[in-house]
Amino acid sequence: MLKGKKILLGITGSIAAYKAVLIVRQLVKEGAEVRVIMTPSATAFITPLTLSTLSKNEVLCQLSDNDSWANHVMLGRWADIMLIAPLSCNTLAKMANGICDNLLLAVYLSATCPVVLAPAMDEDMWHHPSTQQNILKVKSFGNHIIPVSNGELASGLVGEGRMDEPSNIISWIKNLLSKSNDLVGKKVLVTAGPTYEAIDPVRFIGNHSSGKMGIALAEEFNQRGAQVTLVAGPVAETLPDSFKTIKVISANEMLQQCMNVFPQMDIIVMAAAVADYTIETPAVDKIKKKEESFAIQLKKTTDILQTIGKEKLPTQFLAGFALETNNEKENALAKLKSKNADIIILNSLNDKDAGFGYSTNKITIFDKQGNEYPFATKSKKEIAADIVNTIISIANA
Ligand code: CTP
Repeated sequence: MLKGKKILLGITGSIAAYKAVLIVRQLVKEGAEVRVIMTPSATAFITPLTLSTLSKNEVLCQLSDNDSWANHVMLGRWADIMLIAPLSCNTLAKMANGICDNLLLAVYLSATCPVVLAPAMDEDMWHHPSTQQNILKVKSFGNHIIPVSNGELASGLVGEGRMDEPSNIISWIKNLLSKSNDLVGKKVLVTAGPTYEAIDPVRFIGNHSSGKMGIALAEEFNQRGAQVTLVAGPVAETLPDSFKTIKVISANEMLQQCMNVFPQMDIIVMAAAVADYTIETPAVDKIKKKEESFAIQLKKTTDILQTIGKEKLPTQFLAGFALETNNEKENALAKLKSKNADIIILNSLNDKDAGFGYSTNKITIFDKQGNEYPFATKSKKEIAADIVNTIISIANA
């Protein structure tokens, strides 16, 4: 699996730098070609000589010495994966802000391959709001973060912040390499879940969407190398932290967030069950129980899919869902046209084991060229892969 793979290992100034020796040794043992770059402070923890011996390559630390200049752009392009392990708090902060004051940062900024980060720091530093913000920021740039583990720290304290074990880091790399990276460089927006429309401060109108399909899609896009933004309504599901998630409550908030980001997107998939109507004037205070019956005045929400369909560029791929209980095909085709989508994914509530709350789903995809792609009942994860494959094949046709 690692044979012939080009791995660029960045080492920063952290006591966990000693574990980099084990990482290099294992990568080389499994046939990978390893090049090591160290920040100047990493050299205080471990010597370049050890790492050049193990990697069988010169270790680079400086952007230039007296005689030559290290070509950071070519190094960034050479690698199949760039791994920074350990990643110190200081280098993390610089990466989050585009600072480029050493060779490692210059290579990181030039890297065109997936970048995997294995942070290592003391527990209090790890939990500091600035560190957590920086982690979120570098994650939103599309970097992969290997979660820190819990255990004994250099300070003598026990807690979170330890760099994960070398064997786990190698597994991460293998896992990433095993996924096809056919969407590297692509930006994808996915919506998921229901929306809640407030009636008063304690009540709302919502729907049964669990968000599972949208989350599975966002995960699939992310695993295939795309830079994903998920706009999620209120869902009980745990949201993965391997890509950027924007949480919203109402249809209007979902609209605002989608309109903010959609111009930068290559692929947009609207899997959310957005409310079609919202309350005209939500009550400021809790509505008291008085009359035998009362009416709530509703007004139409903006159709997000249709709005994006009107504004999108021909190079942007737009996919919508159609949730139908009757006249499925006819309704799905009408939505494909009225919303100017490239495909509509039909979800029929009449299909057994499909729809709200289920872990399985059954879909049929319709495209603008009049093609129909039926799929069997499968897990939402497998359906997500079918949808992504279909999008890629139609977009590349
Ligand atoms: N959609 C949207 N904004 C809305 C309503 C729907 O973006 N305000 C999107 C959904 O995310 C989905 C598609 O439109 O991708 C179809 O949603 P669906 O509920 O099936 O259909 P509607 O257009 O709402 O029409 P109807 O409820 O009459 O079937």
